[in-house]
Amino acid sequence: ASFLCERDRRFVLETLVNGLQRMEYRGYDSAGLEIEGDNPDEPLIFKEVGKVRMLKEKAMSADIDMDKSYVSQTSIAHTRWATHGVPSVTNCHPHKSDPRKEFTVVHNGIITNYKELRLVLEKRGYKFETDTDTEVAAVLTKYLYDSQKGKQISFTALIKSVIMELEGAFAFVFKSIHYPDEIVVARRGSPVLIGVKTEKKLKVDFVDVEFAGAADADKALEEGAAPGAANGLLGVPSAANPHGGKLVRSQSRAFLSEDGMPQPIEFFIASDASAIVEHTKRVLYLEDDDIAHIAEGEFHIHRLRKNDGTVSTIRAIETLEIELAAIMKGSFDHFMQKEIYEQPESVVNTMRGRVNFDTHTITLGGLQAYLHVIRRCRRLIFVACGTSYHSCLATRSIFEELTEIPVSVELASDFLDRKTPIFRDDVCVYVSQSGETADTILAMRYCLERGALCVGVVNVVGSTISRESHCGIHVNAGPEIGVASTKAYTSQYIALLMMAIQLAEDRTSMTARRNAIIDGLHELPGQIRAILQHDSEFQSLAPMLAKQTSLLIMGRGYQYATCLEAALKIKELCYVAAEGLLAGELKHGPLALIDEQMPVILVMTQDSIYPKVRSALEQVIARGGKPLIIANDTDRSLDDNKHGVIRVPQTVDCLQGILNIIPLQLLSYHMAVAKDCNVDMPRNLAKSVTVE
Ligand code: G6P
Repeated sequence: ASFLCERDRRFVLETLVNGLQRMEYRGYDSAGLEIEGDNPDEPLIFKEVGKVRMLKEKAMSADIDMDKSYVSQTSIAHTRWATHGVPSVTNCHPHKSDPRKEFTVVHNGIITNYKELRLVLEKRGYKFETDTDTEVAAVLTKYLYDSQKGKQISFTALIKSVIMELEGAFAFVFKSIHYPDEIVVARRGSPVLIGVKTEKKLKVDFVDVEFAGAADADKALEEGAAPGAANGLLGVPSAANPHGGKLVRSQSRAFLSEDGMPQPIEFFIASDASAIVEHTKRVLYLEDDDIAHIAEGEFHIHRLRKNDGTVSTIRAIETLEIELAAIMKGSFDHFMQKEIYEQPESVVNTMRGRVNFDTHTITLGGLQAYLHVIRRCRRLIFVACGTSYHSCLATRSIFEELTEIPVSVELASDFLDRKTPIFRDDVCVYVSQSGETADTILAMRYCLERGALCVGVVNVVGSTISRESHCGIHVNAGPEIGVASTKAYTSQYIALLMMAIQLAEDRTSMTARRNAIIDGLHELPGQIRAILQHDSEFQSLAPMLAKQTSLLIMGRGYQYATCLEAALKIKELCYVAAEGLLAGELKHGPLALIDEQMPVILVMTQDSIYPKVRSALEQVIARGGKPLIIANDTDRSLDDNKHGVIRVPQTVDCLQGILNIIPLQLLSYHMAVAKDCNVDMPRNLAKSVTVE
C-alpha cells in the first residue's frame, strides 16, 4: 500500500494484516510485512511462519510506537506458499538485498533462472541468506544500483533493468531506502491489480501506458546506460531478455493527482481483488511486462519494451462489482459450507440473462462473434486442472451428442508435457475458476501461438485467462473462497452445457433434446434446494465414513465425472485415499479391492445405462460389499432398509451430475468437520495454483 495522507503505524499494520487475511483462503505457509521505521532508512520487517494472526501479534507486540504517524509512506506484505526453500521465517517475504535493507521485495511466482543469477552475484561478492528465488531479485536490484553509483537512475529504470534479467513468472512489489515513499510494481505471468482511493474524483478513468521508444532504446545503448550491459554480467540474450541486457527507457505521461497537485490518495496493490475491496472498488489490472510506479500520489505505467502493436496502450480503471459481504462467511461455519449452500442462487446467476426458458434459447454474449468459427472447427479441446477438469469431463458427452464435434478433455499439465499438436482449425476451451492456474494459462498461450481459437470459461473476471482468451463465458458463480471448489463446479458445468446448446441451436434434429435440457435447467435451483434440506442425513453418515482410510466411488457414463469429483473432494478435505472409478472398468482390476471392509459409494441414478450400473451393484454385493448408493427418489427397485441410500430428484441425464454432486460435497464437508480437518484450507493445497 502507498499512502499520501496522514496515517499512523497501527492503521497501516491493520490494513496490511486485513488484506493478508482476506487472501488466506488462497493457501499459504508463512507471512511477512514491512512498514516504515523511525528513520527513513531503517524500515521494519516482521515475519512469521503459520497464520497471519500470529504475524499480527508479533508486529503489534514489538517495541515500537504504534501512534507514530506519517504524511506519506509505503508498506508491503505477503503470504508465501513455498516453492523454492522450505516454509521458514528466513525464507518468508519481504526479502531484502542486504542487511541494511536497501531494497526489499515481495513476489508471487517463480524465477526460473535464479540459480544462474545467484551464482554470478555470489562471484561478485554478494551474500544470500535464504534458499528462495525471490531473494535473487532483491540482491540483483542492489547490484545493478551499485554499478550505477554516481549516476542518477530512476527507480522505474532500475527495476526495468532487473526485470530484463529475470525469467519465469512473477508479480513484484519493490521498495527501497534510496527511493523513499516510492513503490514499483512489475508483472509477468502472475496477476496484480492496483486499487486507487481518494476523496476527490479521479481525474482520469484510464491510464495511458508509455511504451519504450526505439530512440530511447538506442540512446540507452549508446550511453551504455544499461547497468547489466555495462558490467558484462547480464549481456546474455534469452527468451526473457532478447536484448541481451540492454535497457529500454521510456517516459510516462499518466498520473492521477488532480490538477497535478498532490492530494490525499491511497494506492492498494494486490494479487487478488478480495484483499483491497474494503478500501476501494476502483482498480486497474496490470498486463504482462507493465511496470507501474507510484510516488507522491502519482501513478505511472511503463512498458518494458517498445510497442509492437500487440499490447493495448490503455489500462482502464474499472469498478469492481464484488461486495465485501460476498467474501465473508456470514452465518456459516466455513466458506465451503456457505458455498455449497449458495448453489441454488449461483446456478441461477450463471444462467441469468442467457437462458430464455420461454423460447428455449440460449445466448452467450461472449461467444456470439465466434460461434461460426467454433461450429466449423476440426475438434474441441478442453483444457483444465482439478475440479475444473471434472466439469469438462462431465459435459463432454453432451457436447459430442449435440454438436457432433469430436471433443477431447485434457489435464493442462499433461497437455503441456506432451506438446500436443494443435492446428489453426482447433478450438481450445480453458476452464478455470480462478483464471490464474499457471498450467492452464501456459496451455492457452501454447495454443494461442499455434493459431487456435481460445475460449475461456472462468469465474474470476479480469483474470489472466479471461483477458488473454479470444472470447469466452464468465461463469458468474461469485467469489469462491474455500480451497475445495463446489459452486464453481456446478456453474462451470452449466456454462459448458449452455455453450453446447448454443452451438447446436441450428440443428433441428436436436430441438426436442435441447428443449428438454433447458426445461431441466429451469427446475435445477429448486431441486438443489430440496437436496440441501436433507443435509442432516448426510451429516449423520459422515462420522462412520470419516474413520475409513480408503474409499471407492463408482459410476459410469455421465456419472464418472461425479465420482472423480467426489473422490477429489474427499481426498483434499479429509486426507482419505478416495478413488473415483468407472464402473465399466470394475472387472479389470478394482473388483479385487472389494470385500466386506472396503467402503464403496455407488452413483446409480436412472439414465440409459442404469442397467449396467445395477450390474456393478450386484458384483459388489456378491463380494460382500455394502455400498452407499446415490439413487433417484423415483427408484422403487431399491430397498432403503437393505442398502444405505441417498435419494436425489431426477432430471435430464446430462444434468443429473449437477444434482448428484451436492450430497457428495456435503458428505465430504461433514467428514472433514468430523475429522477436525481444516475445511477451507486443506493442508499443502492452495486455491489458485499460480506456479507450474
Ligand atoms: C487447485 C484448487 C482446485 C481447483 C484447481 C484448478 O487445485 O485447489 O479447487 O479445481 O486448482 O483451479 P482453477 O482456478 O483453474 O479452476
